[in-house]
This record gives sequence, C-alpha cells and structure tokens, in this order.
Amino acid sequence: MPLLPILEIPHPTLRMRAKKIRSIDKKALRLAYDMVDTMRDAGGVGLAANQVGELVRIIVLQMPDEEEARIYFNPEVTKSEGMREVEEGCLSLPGLRGIVERSIWIKFQGLDHCQKLVKFKAEDLLSQAIEHEVDHLNGILYPDHLVAHTRLYKIDETQEHTESDRNLQVDQGQNIDDSDDTRNTPASAKIK
Ligand code: NI
Repeated sequence: MPLLPILEIPHPTLRMRAKKIRSIDKKALRLAYDMVDTMRDAGGVGLAANQVGELVRIIVLQMPDEEEARIYFNPEVTKSEGMREVEEGCLSLPGLRGIVERSIWIKFQGLDHCQKLVKFKAEDLLSQAIEHEVDHLNGILYPDHLVAHTRLYKIDETQEHTESDRNLQVDQGQNIDDSDDTRNTPASAKIK
C-alpha cells in the first residue's frame, strides 16, 4: 500500500476541523490502512487523517506493546479526568518536543475497522495518544496544551534526547509557540 506524505506545520489543513464519516466505504477503509502503513513507516504512535491532507474523522494508533494497529472512525473522547504532565511530539512537527497537560484517564468511543462501535476506558500512553489524535481532527496541535511558561524544544532525531535538550528553547513562529495567537485560532477555540 502506498505511503502518504505527512503534512507539517504550518500547513493550514492541520488547523482545520475534520468532518464526520457518514459511511465507512472502501475509500475510507483504504485511507485508514494507508495511514497505518504511513504511521508505522514514520515510527509514530498515532496519525490523524488531517496529517495526510484528508479532512475526515479517522485516527490510527500503534501502541508499542500491541501487535495490531488500531483504526477508529469518528473517534470521541466522551469523558476525561485529572491532569498530568507528559512529554509529547508529533510527526507534523518533526524534531520538536514539549511538555503538555493531558488527562489521567479518558473514556473513548469510536467505530473500529469492522465498523463495530467500541467503548473503553484508557490511561497512560493510549489515553495520551487518543487525546493527541482526536485533537488533530479538531485542528488542535499539542503545543496548544503546553504547560504554562514552557516552550517547545528541539531534539536530535538521531538519538534519544537527554535532559539538557529540554533547556533548548526554539521559536519558530506563531504556530508552535504558546502565545495567545495560537490559543485563539478558531479551531482551538471550539474546544478550549
Ligand atoms: Ni500529531
């Protein structure tokens, strides 16, 4: 299956809201499976359709401890509880990381690759990844959730980053800093 090009900031599609899928037809399934291949090839934990230029509500996830990828259509976080600080990165913001606020646990529902409605409670990395990917469908990027007074930092993609990398501050414009401009984009305003 073909690998899809992954859009990077500041591509406008990353800031748009994806539309609900009415029927999961062959085209939607094909897109989902191509997204799985693209995510795996890029070494990502998750990918949302916005990131490959399609404004439809599809996310795919590959948990490190799971063999099969997860595919969800019209995914929804129906409940979330608590707050924790976690490190996050994104295939659409290559070479960058940030410390963001995420829920302790969430309740989730969506249609799986068999079009079956699945509902479950998630925590840890799965919860974080779902929040991140569902955000993408709403035009929200993880820097919108940066812990107060922190900024994105660069990582050396060829090796594991170290604690000292966290002190390396970057400033690449309005799309990736935690300025009010970013928080007030129309897409994020709907959620925040
Ligand atoms: Ni992402």
